[in-house]
Formats: sequence, C-alpha cells, structure tokens
Amino acid sequence: MQISNRPRRNRKNQAMRNLVRENAISNNDLIAPLFFIEGNNQRVAIDSMPGQYRLSVDNLVKKVKDLQSLGISCVSLFPAVDEALKTKDAKEAYNPDALNQRAVKEVKNACPDILVMTDIALDPYSSDGHDGLVNDKGEILNDETLEVLGKMALAQAKAGSDIVGPSDMMDSRIGFIRMVLEEEGFKNTSIMAYTAKYASSFYGPFRDALDSAPKAGDKKTYQMDYANSEEALRELYLDEAEGADIVMVKPGLAYLDIIQKLKMNSTLPVAAYNVSGEYAMVKAAAANGWLDEEATMVEMLTSFKRAGADMILTYFAEDMARLNS
Ligand code: PBG
Repeated sequence: MQISNRPRRNRKNQAMRNLVRENAISNNDLIAPLFFIEGNNQRVAIDSMPGQYRLSVDNLVKKVKDLQSLGISCVSLFPAVDEALKTKDAKEAYNPDALNQRAVKEVKNACPDILVMTDIALDPYSSDGHDGLVNDKGEILNDETLEVLGKMALAQAKAGSDIVGPSDMMDSRIGFIRMVLEEEGFKNTSIMAYTAKYASSFYGPFRDALDSAPKAGDKKTYQMDYANSEEALRELYLDEAEGADIVMVKPGLAYLDIIQKLKMNSTLPVAAYNVSGEYAMVKAAAANGWLDEEATMVEMLTSFKRAGADMILTYFAEDMARLNS
C-alpha cells in the first residue's frame, strides 16, 4: 500500500511527540487557591477536597514560600470567616484588621515577589451566604452591593493585594471597583474579572471549605445559566469596557467551549478556574483506583491550555508544579 499522508508518523515515538506538541503547562501559568483561618499552627483538612487544608496564617505563609520556590506565579487567598463575624451587611469584608487583610500583609511581607490575588464577593462574610446584599424579600440588591464591593476592593488593595478578583457577578462591578481604585490612587492594582461565572454545582466542596453556602435560595439571579454561551460574550464586552485586566471562565472543565470563545473574542489574557468540584471528582475517583490521578490531572490541565487559557487557577497547582520541576 502507498499512502501519502500518514498522521501516525508524527506520533511514532516520545521524541517526535514532544517535538510536535502544541501545548504544555508551565509553572508560570499556575495560580494556587488557598484557604485560611484564624489561629496558630493550624492545618484543618477539608473532607471534600483531599490534600487541601484551612491553614492558619503562619502556615499559609510557609505554604506560599513553598509554592514560590516551585515557580508558581500567583496565589489566590480565600478566608474562612468565623460565623460570629458574619452579618447581613457583611461589613467584616472591608475591616482593615480582618483576617483576610492581615493575611495579605503577612504573605506580601514574607514573599514580596509572588502575586497575591484576593476574592471580591460578600459570601464569606454574609450571614445570608450570598455574594450580594439580600433584602427582606430575598432579592439580591445590585447597586447597594456595589458600594460594599468597592470598600472591599479598597481594603484589599491597601493591604497589598496585587490582583483583586470580583467573583460576585453584580452588574457593573468591574467599572465601579476600577473607579474606586483609580480615585484612591491604586492605579497598579489589577482586576481579574470572573467574567463568565456560571451558577454551578461544581462549587459544592468550596462552600464546604468556607461554610459559605447560601442560607436560602440559590445564586441563579446573578451567576450565569450554564445553558448559555452568547451571554458570556456580553459579559466579556462589558468587563473589557469597564477596565478588567484579565478575564476568567469558571468553572473550567465543563466550559472549555467558553474559554475558547473568550480567547477568540478578546485581546485580554484569559484565565480558567478549575474549581473545587472538578478537583474533588478526580481525587475521589483516584482514591477508589478508578482513575490514574497524575495522568488525569495533566490531561485536564492541558485541556485548559488547548482551549486557550493563558493561566489556570487550580487546586492541583502544587502537584503539577512538583511534577514539572
Ligand atoms: C465566591 C466564590 C466561589 C468560588 C470562588 N469564589 C463560590 C460561589 O460562587 O458560590 C468557587 C470556587 C471553587 O468551587 O473552587 N463568590
């Protein structure tokens, strides 16, 4: 037989496959989300996220040092806030002495060169467990919430956050936060917009980690309907116009089409959030011997790059970075 095109030639051995490979994961592309709590020398396991912990700030600093030595560029910090501090107005969110702000200062003091990203949304601080303020009819108030988000962004920027990540999905929050940061002189604080953030079941383990599940209702009046794709572009164009520096898609794995769509329609860097439920699925299957954890991790993370993500927030950041080094 004479066949002129044999695509298998480019797969004939590992060296050839290495040569023609289109995508790889660099430690520079990894952002490690980390959970933290009050106290000293604490390391509390999160049952639904094996290998992830709620760390006291001293241990958080040690963890960030380790990640930095592995060449990871950025950490995203999520405080687990004491129930007693959660209120309807979520005012602990912008307390300059709050756990979150203290942690940012300590991490930046110890590791000035790693980027610290902080989350903007009210859920860790809200007694209602919602990302926005809730009125007595159970409605999420958009414009009133913006004022709180602005204060929260400012408190985080003052503490030294390099990147603020609004994950709340209120309308116009990127523009509002950008205006507050500009007015207050924080011209170098970056905004990574959670641009296409879907109302997803894949956030379950994260809500366990922070005890932040909504007390009533769901998040469907602000997070996007997972049946929609065009709507992601609408959010993209708004976030671009409002001053976002990086746009994110969340969750990641079931939304690779959305990652590609944002990449093709924007000149901004695109981030993918490989969320808690995606991590938990791989961990649970691997623990049962049903999946090869390492191979699945690499395949999954590579798929984000192939779809067009410039960077990946992932609970596998440390494992992937160790594998690379
Ligand atoms: C808070 C927030 C959530 C996540 C990141 N920021 C949860 C939610 O919106 O309910 C989820 C991350 C994950 O599941 O890994 N607004």
